[in-house]
Amino acid sequence: MSYQVLARKYRPKKFADITAQEHITRTIQNSLRLGRVGHGYIFSGLRGVGKTTAARVFAKAVNCGRMIEDPEYLKEVTEPCGECESCLDFEQGTSLNISEFDAASNNSVDDIRLLRENVRYGPQKGRYRVYIIDEVHMLSTAAFNAFLKTLEEPPAHAIFIFATTELHKIPPTIASRCQRFNFKRIPLSEIEKQLHGICENEGINVEDDALQLIGRKAQGSMRDAQSILDQVIAFAVEQDEERSIHYDKVAELLNYIDDEQFFEVTEAAAEGDPAKMLAVARFVIDNGYDEQDFLEKLIEHLRNFLVLYNLRSTRLIERPEPVKERYQRDAKSFSPAVMMRMIDLLLEAQKELKFQFEYQFRFELVLLKLIETCHPASERLPEASPEETTEKKKSMTERQQ
Ligand SMILES: Nc1ncnc2c1ncn2[C@@H]1O[C@H](COP(=O)(O)OP(=O)(O)OP(=O)(O)O)[C@@H](O)[C@H]1O
Ligand SMILES: [Mg+2]
Ligand SMILES: [Zn+2]
Repeated sequence: MSYQVLARKYRPKKFADITAQEHITRTIQNSLRLGRVGHGYIFSGLRGVGKTTAARVFAKAVNCGRMIEDPEYLKEVTEPCGECESCLDFEQGTSLNISEFDAASNNSVDDIRLLRENVRYGPQKGRYRVYIIDEVHMLSTAAFNAFLKTLEEPPAHAIFIFATTELHKIPPTIASRCQRFNFKRIPLSEIEKQLHGICENEGINVEDDALQLIGRKAQGSMRDAQSILDQVIAFAVEQDEERSIHYDKVAELLNYIDDEQFFEVTEAAAEGDPAKMLAVARFVIDNGYDEQDFLEKLIEHLRNFLVLYNLRSTRLIERPEPVKERYQRDAKSFSPAVMMRMIDLLLEAQKELKFQFEYQFRFELVLLKLIETCHPASERLPEASPEETTEKKKSMTERQQ
């Protein structure tokens, strides 16, 4: 049997399986119950969060025989049944009631004219023809204008779903004629739950912290999470008789920089220890990590402290418990104002580094400047007492998980 990538194999088939977008699926289901389906929708949001998936389930639902014929079922279940002829056509990809149109590669006025021609004809079976127009922000202005008329007077059988990762690029003339749904970035915990379910189903044992690494790398995109899992399976599981995914393998594959390095930076800044700071710079450079990427994660690390100062809780920090405790402990070494200054410095450096040649030197320099930001010459902290220093040394060497 040929291998099917996880993102396709696990594409949700009904509203209830679309994770973290309940604010959208619930609204759509309500409109189905009330028989108030619109003709134009905009689905916006990050890549891989369920826009195309939701559009397909929607298209399947408006044409589902059972939903149309059984009012009780429509009210109580409000999901495509998955069994009627129309649903089966959808699931086999043979339904004529759905057209997916990629605006990134068909963005001329002529392409839109063709689409408009096509829209005139109603469905042969079922109620609606659903047109999913992906990457709609790539359409030319002329193409948008050509489309406007269709959207103003859409045929009764047509539903347009415009999907985009860049909502601001859609002209207001189009946007104001549509219902807008903004898809959220998927929280880490939901991604972990999904990946966990997939691994279980695939008969793979997986360590929780390995799943968390994959989830974090995906940065809120479910498709990215599933693709990374595909890669991890190919790399770590296929040759392994036990079929297991271990933390170390994932860290190796993803070229992952452990939290430890970021805590080293904040400790070096708090302690005013340039040698320690330079050791981190060396570590990054010698291991071939990308400096830009490191700065980005370092900013996220500092942001976690800011969250902690402002909310007085680690609830919004997406890390395992022991790491959260470490944030709480280390937060005492800084003030919010200093933290802000450090973040400003890094944001500036991030911009500059893009255009610089003496990359490594500048990278080291910016890390050293963090110390200066923490201890401006005028307000140096008093020397730490000897016990305190050993205390800190101890906590430094504790490997946190
Ligand atoms: N909210 C979600 N719940 C469950 N699975 C999801 C979700 N979002 C995405 N996925 C998974 O990711 C895959 C890709 O999702 P989808 O095609 O819907 O993304 P998209 O938002 O349209 O992305 P793009 O902007 O790249 O087109 C799906 O096949 C599914 O496996
Ligand atoms: Mg899509
Ligand atoms: Zn059905």
